[in-house]
Amino acid sequence: MIKQIAWTGLLLLSASAAAADTPTGFMAHYAQQARVAMTTLSPARGEALYRSEHPGRSGGAQSCASCHSANPKQAGQTRVGKRIEPLAPAANPQRFSDTAKVEKWFRRNCMDVLLRECSAQEKGDFIAWLNRIK
Ligand code: HEC
Repeated sequence: MIKQIAWTGLLLLSASAAAADTPTGFMAHYAQQARVAMTTLSPARGEALYRSEHPGRSGGAQSCASCHSANPKQAGQTRVGKRIEPLAPAANPQRFSDTAKVEKWFRRNCMDVLLRECSAQEKGDFIAWLNRIK
């Protein structure tokens, strides 16, 4: 019974993940995961998540903006100075087009900055903000 539920969940998850290969597709996907309406995703909370500083894994104050730059339409850089292409889809159409990539980096970067994974709500808010930038 439990196994069956787990399998159904997995199938549903991969089905919705496969459809979520655009910024709005990801917003719909994360809203659904968070059990909120997509229209209630908050760009303001997304921006706050982007800019807020945390002790982070490296000790010093760290935010998403530390690597992705204060302006997500501009290129950022890693701690070792490697270029990171802009995060905003308006400046970089490749963003939020690959489920595996999006999931991998949300997990890694949220762990790095917040020392935990981001919630579905946070991911939805984050993309809602980035996707609104023209
Ligand atoms: C230590 C540097 C660093 C920090 C801090 C950081 N990122 Fe990133 N991020 C990267 C790198 C490197 C990549 C992968 C290279 C690339 O996609 O250009 C990336 C890629 C991403 C992607 C992939 C997007 C896509 O579709 O291509 C997302 C989402 C993301 N980061 C979210 C975040 C969030 C949310 C935070 C803050 C909680 C954050 N990042 C903080 C370095 C960082």
